[in-house]
Amino acid sequence: KQHTERQHVLDTLRLSSAQLLEVKRRMNTEMNRGLDRNTHTNATVKMLPTFVRATPNGTERGDFLALDLGGTNFRVLLVRVRSGKRRSVEMHNKIYAIPQDIMQGTGDELFDHIVHCIADFLEYMGMKGASLPLGFTFSFPCQQNKLDQGILLKWTKGFKATGCEGQDVVNLLKDAIHRHEEFDLDVVAVVNDTVGTMMTCGYEDSHCEVGLIVGTGTNACYMEEMENVELVEGDDGRMCVNMEWGAFGDHGELDDFCTPFDHAVDERSANPGRQRFEKMISGMYLGEIVRNVLLDFTTRGLLFRGRLSERLKTRGIFETKFLSQIESDRLALRQVRSILQHLGLTSSTCDDSILVKEVCAVVSRRAAQLCGAGLAAVVDKIRLNRRLEQLRVTVGVDGTLYKLHPHFSTIMRETLRELAPQCEVTLVQSEDGSGKGAALITAVACRLRDGAK
Ligand code: BG6
Ligand code: GLC
Repeated sequence: KQHTERQHVLDTLRLSSAQLLEVKRRMNTEMNRGLDRNTHTNATVKMLPTFVRATPNGTERGDFLALDLGGTNFRVLLVRVRSGKRRSVEMHNKIYAIPQDIMQGTGDELFDHIVHCIADFLEYMGMKGASLPLGFTFSFPCQQNKLDQGILLKWTKGFKATGCEGQDVVNLLKDAIHRHEEFDLDVVAVVNDTVGTMMTCGYEDSHCEVGLIVGTGTNACYMEEMENVELVEGDDGRMCVNMEWGAFGDHGELDDFCTPFDHAVDERSANPGRQRFEKMISGMYLGEIVRNVLLDFTTRGLLFRGRLSERLKTRGIFETKFLSQIESDRLALRQVRSILQHLGLTSSTCDDSILVKEVCAVVSRRAAQLCGAGLAAVVDKIRLNRRLEQLRVTVGVDGTLYKLHPHFSTIMRETLRELAPQCEVTLVQSEDGSGKGAALITAVACRLRDGAK
């Protein structure tokens, strides 16, 4: 009887093929609404133009600085790009912490901190006072009217610094540089991490026309036909569109698939009601969904002998890396138990370990399937744009959840094959982060700009 009760709960987290197909269909509808001049403002999927018009072609060159803000790590990078026969990219980078109080303090404090890190990096590289063109990977929704502008629409993923929303982050950065009075920087491009990832992978594979992130947050970008990008003048060629698909569902498009656990996670997040798709998929939230299921099971006496510990009531104890460890096939149950113990959930039995592992598997499977359904909408749109029977396309992917989780990519691939059978999709894992891509974009922009002089 207990078994049936548990399965009954877990069934609410299982999606059928028909439901996934419906997710793909609704995503497609929102994509079209986001691109359409008349419906754009009400669309949940914003389909933001990026002013990146081509993937790399190997002629990019020069030395660039890049910033990479918005994922697990904040990095400052020096990227040296060589073209021609010896085409290569050499990167040096340093990771800096962004303390919680700075993430949630004032915008000035955040950008002062960033400039401080750049100054430290330049000194560390022996380049104090150097003024290099800079590409800024800023992984949040930004409205861009040109490449070197990014008006922050809304913070996501737990960032909260005040006075930034509605502002151009290039100006915020420049102002902070002037306050610092030590060096000057030429900010050439603002780049979303999806776009940076697509460009990073595009340097090796010219079929790479989609970028996907499954990390702290989730999002995708792809090359769209200019004639469909109604927010930008001109009909020729293509432009990369930053979908901001994490916000899919914010008008209720996912309500019939959401569980009470999803609602609980959403309600206690920094941005209730927003980023609903992201909250069912990405690393920042999956562990929280799992914890809420375990809380429910325990309250009903189906787990941990019905004993609710303080630990289990603590937000954020299940980080992505624990989920990935628990779900690893190589792990014996004894080890699952020791992870639970490490998390402070000490009273667990062997049966508890089996159940916890099953909960993790159900939650992450749903995430991978939803992500696959979203991606199916993207690749099928590219295929139909080009009026092709069959499309071959490469997707550049990055993010800790995707990289660390033992089954995420396999399940996502299966879903993709089922929902977009006319697309032959190659998923390429990015090893170099999106800073490299941001530098390549900066290189192209500098060449065009200097050529025009
Ligand atoms: C990195 C990119 O490789 O992937 C970051 O350089 C990006 O900019 C990140 O945000 C996404 O992963 P995570 O897991 O760190 O959020
Ligand atoms: C969030 C951000 C988006 C970013 C994604 C992955 O969804 O809004 O810009 O690409 O996280 O980091």
